[in-house]
Amino acid sequence: MKIDRVLISEDEIAAKLAEMGGAISADYAGRDLLMVGVLKGAFIVMADLARHITVPVEFDFMAVSSYGGATKTSGVVRILKDLDQQITDRHVLIVEDIIDSGLTLHYLIRNLRVRQPASIELAALLIKDGIDRPPLDIKYEGFHIPPEFVVGYGLDFDEKLRNIPYIGVMDVE
Ligand code: IMP
Ligand code: MG
Repeated sequence: MKIDRVLISEDEIAAKLAEMGGAISADYAGRDLLMVGVLKGAFIVMADLARHITVPVEFDFMAVSSYGGATKTSGVVRILKDLDQQITDRHVLIVEDIIDSGLTLHYLIRNLRVRQPASIELAALLIKDGIDRPPLDIKYEGFHIPPEFVVGYGLDFDEKLRNIPYIGVMDVE
């Protein structure tokens, strides 16, 4: 299990999150913002993005599982931990580490819409290009990356390597 190469450096990530935080802060001025992190992958993105939000904001987390220790999505999403808060009439911003097949988010958005939030938007640090996925309107995008398996900055391989401070491409051999 080793990292082949750095795809996105710590500095590049920091600059991008500052930019995204600025845009989110401007857009949500005067609104009741609830940022919802998708565990476990988004925990580092959420922590770093949070520090660039300059408007009043609350945080909540959901834990979902679509991977069983493999590097391909199963298409089956299980809610392992639901939100603590009610989201009816609130402005919800979902924060994701990466959008691959989009199945997790597709499911999550449908699930959260039923609860009738005032609005629901998406922020994702990474979006994999060249993947067939259901249409997703991603309002705050970090980086588009090639369809490779990446680790670090919250992203794992078999629950490991989440603590690597940059985005790396793993040697899956
Ligand atoms: P989905 O395929 O868009 O549903 O992705 C679901 C989840 O799979 C993401 O939130 C990540 O936690 C994980 N995932 C997708 N692609 C990668 C990857 O390249 N490395 C590590 N985890 C990934
Ligand atoms: Mg995730």
